[in-house]
Amino acid sequence: MLAGNWKMNKTPSEAQSFANLLVNELVGIKSFDIYVAPPFTALDRVREVISSSNIKLAAQNMYYEDSGAFTGEVSAKMLKDLNVEAVIIGHSERRKIFGETDELINKKIKKALNEGLTPIFCIGETLEERQKGLTFCVVEKQVREGFYGLSREEAIKVVIAYEPVWAIGTGVVATPWQAQEVHAFLRKLLSEMYDTEVAQKIRILYGGSVTPENWFGLFVQKDIDGALVGGASLKESFIELARIMERVISK
Ligand code: PGA
Repeated sequence: MLAGNWKMNKTPSEAQSFANLLVNELVGIKSFDIYVAPPFTALDRVREVISSSNIKLAAQNMYYEDSGAFTGEVSAKMLKDLNVEAVIIGHSERRKIFGETDELINKKIKKALNEGLTPIFCIGETLEERQKGLTFCVVEKQVREGFYGLSREEAIKVVIAYEPVWAIGTGVVATPWQAQEVHAFLRKLLSEMYDTEVAQKIRILYGGSVTPENWFGLFVQKDIDGALVGGASLKESFIELARIMERVISK
């Protein structure tokens, strides 16, 4: 899977024209899923552009209630009505800037699954946590709490995005070895929590300063199933990332 997280970038008209470019350039790619996650305000316009293409629509967030007095929030049903198929949940920016907790994130994951949306569940350690040797502890806690109460059938539908916080938007990418080590740890953890089939089937993406220059080395790692991309998803580099994946998969 290749997913572009546009964050708070692009007006609806900018999003529409960029989506047009992506549709033309990425036509024919079928060997992996391509998602774009525009801001809420651009979802409808992007939906129209990509409707008969191989690009799927994702949202960057949602709330776990259906409706009501939740000023500023958007429900899973609202997203479904716009043909949104996946939703990013628990991004480190939402955890840090907007105070999202593992408990809230777990509620959102459950709600997304109940409504038939694929949660792209983000986890990752800060630089301080890595330097203290806490990486595995931190991601284990995030995964256990995020998956709390999920059956194996539900768990298998979740996409995990391992995004070391120190690599997000910094230009400092994890080395292929650093990323692979955590991805392998996550598979082992999932096989303990569920079984080996779940651990093998769950897609685990890497995210954090992915660019066409570093993507090949990461994507060829055994346990890296794709990328969640921020900065490089806003321009033509997103197309290059997809081409790299096509080449690796077709080999
Ligand atoms: P980045 O962001 O690619 O700009 O580092 C990744 C993300 O936040 O998902």
